[in-house]
Amino acid sequence: MVIIIYLLTCSLSLHTKAYPNTHVDPHDGQYPLVQNVTVTEGGIANLTCRVEFNDNTSLQWSNPAQQTLFFGDKKALRDNRIELVRATSSELTISISDVTLSDEGMYTCSLFTMPVRTAKAYLTVLGVPEKPEIDGLTKPAMEGDHITLTCITQGSKPAADLRWFRNEKEVKGAKEVNASGKTFTVRSSLQLQVDRNDDGVAYTCRVDHVALTQAPQQATEVLEVHYAPRVEITHSLEVPQEGQYLKLECVSKGNPSPDPVMWTKDGSELPDLDRMIVEGRELTFTSLNKTDNGTYRCEASNHLGTSSAQYVLYVYDAPTTLPPPTTPPLHPITPDPTALLGSHASDPTVTGNRDPNALGQHGTDHALIGGVVAVVVFVTLCLIIVLGRYLARHKGTYLTNEAKGADDAPDADTAIINAEGNHAHAEEKKEYFI
Ligand SMILES: *[C@@H]1O[C@H](CO)[C@@H](O)[C@H](O)[C@H]1NC(C)=O
Ligand SMILES: *[C@@H]1O[C@H](CO)[C@@H](O)[C@H](O)[C@H]1NC(C)=O
Ligand SMILES: *[C@@H]1O[C@H](CO)[C@@H](O)[C@H](O)[C@H]1NC(C)=O
Ligand SMILES: *[C@@H]1O[C@H](CO)[C@@H](O)[C@H](O)[C@H]1NC(C)=O
Ligand SMILES: *[C@@H]1O[C@H](CO)[C@@H](O)[C@H](O)[C@H]1NC(C)=O
Ligand SMILES: *[C@@H]1O[C@H](CO)[C@@H](O)[C@H](O)[C@H]1NC(C)=O
Repeated sequence: MVIIIYLLTCSLSLHTKAYPNTHVDPHDGQYPLVQNVTVTEGGIANLTCRVEFNDNTSLQWSNPAQQTLFFGDKKALRDNRIELVRATSSELTISISDVTLSDEGMYTCSLFTMPVRTAKAYLTVLGVPEKPEIDGLTKPAMEGDHITLTCITQGSKPAADLRWFRNEKEVKGAKEVNASGKTFTVRSSLQLQVDRNDDGVAYTCRVDHVALTQAPQQATEVLEVHYAPRVEITHSLEVPQEGQYLKLECVSKGNPSPDPVMWTKDGSELPDLDRMIVEGRELTFTSLNKTDNGTYRCEASNHLGTSSAQYVLYVYDAPTTLPPPTTPPLHPITPDPTALLGSHASDPTVTGNRDPNALGQHGTDHALIGGVVAVVVFVTLCLIIVLGRYLARHKGTYLTNEAKGADDAPDADTAIINAEGNHAHAEEKKEYFI
């Protein structure tokens, strides 16, 4: 009984508590309601003030400088940007167009009850960052140069974020933010030591900011890197033989593009032969001859340097008569990077000696080792088998002796069994002694 009364009291007290907030006192709904507003510079800000239960009491909007903008539907301040949107007994909405950063601040809606009730709405104006600019690029840059790319954007509020991308892949820059008036100047720098791989690479600086609702602002610079050439000789045959067709190509890469390549044989001009054709970067032998063997070198240069590569040609006999294995085979390709900037090529016999017979030699060695191992394993297995049999015999002999001892068996049956056993063992013994 007591509990029921207590519960009733509780629910009653809850009700009485809930009542005044909603319906009981009509004057309690009579207060202004506003919301903070955020608008991008140049946009339109709507300031709305609502009163849920109003008895035709007047509403008013005033600006951060406490100047009245609208009193009900009556305009109080001469400013073409400020207009009335809606004025009813329960709402007063005004709009400010072409908003500037100086419009930012606390706006007040007043309801002229006794005493006056107010609500404050903060108008936040976002500063739009300017299109970023990239500085510090030297065009063209030389391989090995240290360069610092700097990206700057002004006018953002709050401070914008700057991000760097090297061909779409993000790279880390050093950011610095300075306030200038109400907005911020943001700078981000990127330090690079350029190499040939940076030639043609696009560096993009992107601005991320709340006020940039559509595409982010960005600036892109494409690096141009000059570098000395690097050459390499490719060849169409692995084992050049007399009478065959051989093409050597001098592959050179450099920026600016190297001048036409130059071929030499053993340090002097190419012999003037019909079957040796130079066409651009290619040297072609229409039909190899043993007299062609020697060291061929190609050289390419631009204003930054010279590079060369060499190829040692050894012409083997025609396919029917392959050279004996004792002949030292020598036809290496030597793309020698040391030759960069005109330095001399390293000894071809030391560097790129690719001996086709070396592999065969290795194979023979392996086969030999395999054979020896196989023989050793086989002999070991034989030994184990012979030893095993020997031991088994020993055991057998022992058993036979024991059986012999049973010769003086108590009855005939046992004697027969013993005799049979003896016979078998005797045979086995014979075998054993062979
Ligand atoms: C401001 O109010 C006008 C008129 O009601 C409306 O057309 C506009 O969309 C509103 N703007 C914003 C940002 O709410
Ligand atoms: C507000 O004023 C209008 C006319 O001025 C009147 O018709 C209406 O009854 C009034 N409302 C209240 C709640 O006083
Ligand atoms: C409105 O902005 C002011 C000032 O920035 C802040 O103090 C207040 O909490 C904000 N009110 C709401 C409802 O966000
Ligand atoms: C920021 O201010 C410092 C010190 O005044 C100045 O050295 C620097 O250059 C400024 N940075 C920017 C991005 O304006
Ligand atoms: C290689 O050249 C020599 C001399 O020029 C010539 O006598 C010989 O017939 C040539 N051999 C072949 C296979 O063309
Ligand atoms: C061909 O090469 C071998 C081995 O390098 C050399 O001994 C020989 O003199 C060369 N022959 C000619 C004709 O250059």
